Amino acid sequence: MLKKIAELEEKASREIEEAKNMEEIKALKVRYFGKKGALTALLRRMGELAPEQRPLAGKKAHDLRNKLEELLDRKEEKLREAALAARWEEERIDVTLPGAPFNLGRKHPLTMVLEEITGIFTGLGFQVARGPEIESDYYNFEALNIPPDHPARDMQDSFYFSPKILLRTHTSPVQIRTMELQAPRLPVRIIVPGKVYRRDDDATHSPMFHQVEGLAVDRGVTFADLKGTLLLFAREMFDQGQRIRLRPSFFPFTEPSAEVDIACIICRGEGCRVCGQSGWLEILGCGMVHPRVLEVSGYDPEDVTGFAFGMGVERIAMLKYGIDDLRLLFSNDLRFLRQFR
Ligand code: PHE
Repeated sequence: MLKKIAELEEKASREIEEAKNMEEIKALKVRYFGKKGALTALLRRMGELAPEQRPLAGKKAHDLRNKLEELLDRKEEKLREAALAARWEEERIDVTLPGAPFNLGRKHPLTMVLEEITGIFTGLGFQVARGPEIESDYYNFEALNIPPDHPARDMQDSFYFSPKILLRTHTSPVQIRTMELQAPRLPVRIIVPGKVYRRDDDATHSPMFHQVEGLAVDRGVTFADLKGTLLLFAREMFDQGQRIRLRPSFFPFTEPSAEVDIACIICRGEGCRVCGQSGWLEILGCGMVHPRVLEVSGYDPEDVTGFAFGMGVERIAMLKYGIDDLRLLFSNDLRFLRQFR
């Protein structure tokens, strides 16, 4: 019996030592400790021994059981550690490797100019207002004092959905929409950035372009306020020494009306190719809000006055950045767009 125990000890120890994974450990447990296991069988056979042999053999057998249990535990622990180490190795990352480069987007030059323009005016107390791009004939024309068949409509031929619904040709309808909502409260002081549409398409005209409208209505607003506001804008936008010039003009919704030029930013007024030798560049239209426009919007023209202006954002962007073809702004060529930050 003692010999059997010694043999079992020798064999089991070796097998445990050689086990390569948890499955093998499990199999060994069954083989030795299971119902039909070798150690179990051995212990069961203690009863067959002569009484004087039992204490020694019994002790040896129990010692063996303890020893094998401990060996199994230790082996299990070792295998677990090895598995963990292997996983660490497999999932190891080298934090010193260079990162994978990714492209950072940037703002479109038109977006930058739009934000800059609105920033200048919000700094003066104007609030940003918006309106629909699909507009009614009433807001786009009629309320702005442009009746059907008025020649002013020729310059603003648009895209019609029906005879009374069109893509807005300017941001001026938002003047009416805002005043209608706000009347009779004063002051009205808004800036309207947005897309507008006209039936035009060449190197200097795009069927979709951007405008920023301005409107200020209050008691005692004068033409001098308009001029001062626009001069300040031109200086903030281009150069603190910037000069402007107002030329008489006509818009049905302002009276008097003017067109505003800035001294050519290329030649500073000397005359060059960009300004057509005139020394001046046109940047916007403006004027004092026509009494009829105030009236249809709910304000009393005897009580309040206002000024309004509308500028083309593409034109300002082209002047500011020296872009010579409008279409560059809409062709999404990254080589062009990457130059702006
Ligand atoms: N809406 C005019 C245009 O698109 C510009 C303008 C706005 C003129 C406000 C005067 C006052 O041409």
